[in-house]
Amino acid sequence: MSAEALATSAPRLKPKTGLTAKDRQAIAEKLGVVLADSYQLFIKTQGVHWNIAGPSFYGIHNLTESHYQNIYEAIDVIAERIRALGEKAPASYTTYGELSSITDEDKVETAGAMLKMLIADHETVCRSMREAIEPCEDKGDYVTADLLIERLAWHEEAIWMLRSITAG
Ligand SMILES: [Fe+2]
Repeated sequence: MSAEALATSAPRLKPKTGLTAKDRQAIAEKLGVVLADSYQLFIKTQGVHWNIAGPSFYGIHNLTESHYQNIYEAIDVIAERIRALGEKAPASYTTYGELSSITDEDKVETAGAMLKMLIADHETVCRSMREAIEPCEDKGDYVTADLLIERLAWHEEAIWMLRSITAG
């Protein structure tokens, strides 16, 4: 690969698709929070998958596997949407920690406490998504709105499943 090719650096693109640069940046910023929340929730869901114990092990172990796989795929879609909007996708744990209001948690907990934690974190992602959808609809970014509405529906379903296990 040529030195010139390796020196390419253009994280900010300028697509002219009918959205202003200001609107694209504002939406990308909100999507960055959704991305950070999703990454935090991804790792915490995988942590529950690994560390869950007790009579409910099998069901929760399998459910959290399907959840973290789904979130993992969504992370890529969200990040690439940020790029399609012309902005740089946040890509470090430090940045995710700064952007997300979902905190790290690596203590061994009871099964009940783990489920409660995941429910609260899914709810946080939902709130971030709702906040991101608003400017999308306002500014005519239907593609991002569509992506987020689909993700929001998935998280609300995940919350239903997790709450049904705890019946709370
Ligand atoms: Fe596994």
